[in-house]
Amino acid sequence: MSAQTQRATPLYAVFGNPIGHSRSPHIHALFAAQTGVTLRYEARLAPIDGFAQALDAFRAEGGMGANITVPFKFEAWRLCARRSAAAQLAQAVNTVGWDEGGLWGDNTDGIGLVRDLARLLGGDPHRPLHGQRLLLLGAGGAASGVLGPLIAAGARAIALWNRSGDKAQSLAARHSALAAQHGTDLQVVQSPPAHWADGVINATAASLDGKPLDLPEGVLRPGIWAYDMMYGAHDTAFVTQARTAGAQAWDGLGMLVEQAAQSYTLWHGEAPDTAPVLAALRAELAAPAQENAGSPQVFLSPTGVGQKG
Ligand code: ATR
Repeated sequence: MSAQTQRATPLYAVFGNPIGHSRSPHIHALFAAQTGVTLRYEARLAPIDGFAQALDAFRAEGGMGANITVPFKFEAWRLCARRSAAAQLAQAVNTVGWDEGGLWGDNTDGIGLVRDLARLLGGDPHRPLHGQRLLLLGAGGAASGVLGPLIAAGARAIALWNRSGDKAQSLAARHSALAAQHGTDLQVVQSPPAHWADGVINATAASLDGKPLDLPEGVLRPGIWAYDMMYGAHDTAFVTQARTAGAQAWDGLGMLVEQAAQSYTLWHGEAPDTAPVLAALRAELAAPAQENAGSPQVFLSPTGVGQKG
């Protein structure tokens, strides 16, 4: 690409620290090729204490929009002049852009998870969790990004569990009005309930350590589904744990692709077809796993990045 063409090509980026493992540039390049859009999308490492400056410099350079990942989603939320309802509930943004009103922010993580669940579970694509009882494990950044869309997807009841502190209480309090509006019974539980949930979502960072979660007998069981928001070349610890208990289990690669597709739609006004992109990513993830058996396992999250050596 000549310097002149490069300057004229719309510029997008993902900001994080670390950022080396991000698949967003690849995913957005696949979407662009599919929809006939010309763009540049780069991974940018921002200094831990220099995110706002990095974003300003990016805009001055001609940047039109950006994805934001760990650890900058909360700071990005604070910097936005306008935020979507989803971002407001999550208190975090993963997608920003600029218009005449300044910096706007949205959070596409939750809609990404719900769309992937709609694909996996079938049924009403707008309310794929209609009538279901969900157990959401974790109350950190990953959980707060998805709770609102899980409520809006029609869940009958959601039990929120976190291993420590009062994070689950404040997350539930922030979502109580939305839960009432949708008729969702939202409860914080001290211990994950056994023989209760139709679906269990792991939003903890436990799979980063490659260790199963310490769950009471009967939480994961035959006849239910389980979803790990992490993914990797190998099955995550939670996927293995759920399958061993007889549940149907999936990882978060589909969520990664779906949240990217929603960001892409916000910027370009056109929704890409996610199925071929998910298939390509799955094949790429599987290839090195066979070639490099015994090498360090890396697990990643659609809402951030982690590594197990
Ligand atoms: P993220 O952005 O990935 O959600 P985070 O905000 O640091 O990261 O939150 C991590 C979540 O994983 C928290 O809910 C954390 O529980 P605590 O609040 O008690 O720390 C949870 N978590 C991490 N490791 C865990 C483990 N081994 N078992 C259970 N929960 C775990």
